[in-house]
Amino acid sequence: MPEPVQPQPVVTGLTTAALFLVLTIDEGGEDAARDLLADVSTIERVVDFRAVGIGVNVVAGIGSQAWDRLFAGERPAHLHVLEELHGDKHHMPSTPGDLLFHIRGAQQNVCFEVARQIMNQLDGAATVVDEVYGFQSFGHRNLLGFMDGTENPTGIEAFGAALVGEDEPDFTGGSYVIVQKYRHDMKAWDDISTEEQERVMGRSKIDDIEMSDDVKPANSHIALNDIEDENGEGLDILRANMPFGSFKDGEMGTYFIGYAADPAVTEQMLENMFIGDPPGNYDRLLDFSTAITGGLFFAPSKDFLDDLPPAPEQPEETDDDMQAPPVKAGSLAIGSLKRSVLR
Ligand code: HEM
Repeated sequence: MPEPVQPQPVVTGLTTAALFLVLTIDEGGEDAARDLLADVSTIERVVDFRAVGIGVNVVAGIGSQAWDRLFAGERPAHLHVLEELHGDKHHMPSTPGDLLFHIRGAQQNVCFEVARQIMNQLDGAATVVDEVYGFQSFGHRNLLGFMDGTENPTGIEAFGAALVGEDEPDFTGGSYVIVQKYRHDMKAWDDISTEEQERVMGRSKIDDIEMSDDVKPANSHIALNDIEDENGEGLDILRANMPFGSFKDGEMGTYFIGYAADPAVTEQMLENMFIGDPPGNYDRLLDFSTAITGGLFFAPSKDFLDDLPPAPEQPEETDDDMQAPPVKAGSLAIGSLKRSVLR
C-alpha cells in the first residue's frame, strides 16, 4: 500500500478573501526561493495560529522555467509554459511567472500577513509581477451577477479532479494550477438584457439553474466548459475564482484559478473558449471578458516541500564567462519587459 501523501490546501471550502501573488525569481535568487518554499507551510501555520478563529491557508506553485532553476532530477510530467491561444476574435496571453502564491482566508488582513512574511523572506530574491486581492461578492456571485463555483466537484471527486494520483509517483498529491486575470467590460455587460446574459452563461441569473440542452446556446460558457473524455466520462477541474477590482486602475473582473490532476483538462476548456468547439464557436463570455494574464504552475505536495530535491548543479565559471557582460536569467528578462506592458 502506497504511503499517504499530504497535499497543500488545494481542496478547501470557498473563503471570503484571497490574495493571488505571482513573482519572478531574480537572478541569483534561487537559494532564497528554495528556502522559502521549504518554509511556506510554517508561515501558514504560524499566521493561522496567531489569527485566532479567522483561518488562512496558502498554496505555493512553481512555473516551468523556474522548476529547472530550483530542482535537479525529475520534473512533473505535464509542467510547461502555458501556450498562448489565438482565436478568430479573442487572444489568450501567457505572461511571466516563476512562483504563484494562492492565499485564502476569512479576512484580507490574514492573507496580507502571509504575503508580507513571504515577501520579507524573499527580499531581493524575487519581483512581484502581479498582485490581486480577491473578495467574495454577495454570496458567491461574481461581478457579472452570476453564482460562480456551483458545478465544482465536491468530496472525494474534488480530490480526484484536482490532485495528481499514482500515475506520477514522484508528484502524487500535487496539482497543476492555471491562473488568469480577466477584465470585464461592465458597461457592455450591463447594456444587454438579463435574458441575454443568461444565454451567455447558460444558466439562470437569480436561481442559478442550468438551461436545458435544447435551449442552452452552443456558444454559452457552460456548453463549452462541460466536457467529457472519449468514453463519455465528465472531466472536471476545481475552481476558486474571485472577483477583484480597482477604480484607480480602471479595471474589475474575475481572477480565474483552476486546479487539475492533468492540465490538459483545463487547457481543453481554454481551447473551447478561445478557439471554439467547433473552431469559430468561441465562448460568448469572452465578448465581455478579456484575459490579461495567464500562467501554469505546479503546486507540489507538502511532503515534497518538506523534503526538497537537491538544487541543480551550477555550471563552473570559465575565463570566457568572467569576461562576458552579465546575462539576465530568461524568465527575469521577460518578466520585467512584460511588467511594463501589464501595468
Ligand atoms: C471571465 C472568467 C470566468 C467567469 C466570469 C466564469 C464564470 C462561471 C460561472 C458563473 C459558471 C457557472 C456556475 C458554476 O458552475 O461555477 C462557470 C462554470 C464553469 N466554468 Fe467558468 N468562468 C470564467 C472562466 C473560466 C475558465 C477560464 C474556465 C476553464 C479553463 C472555466 C471553467 C468552468 C467550468 C468547468 C464550469 C462548470 C461547467 C459545468 O456546468 O459543468 N471558467 N463559470
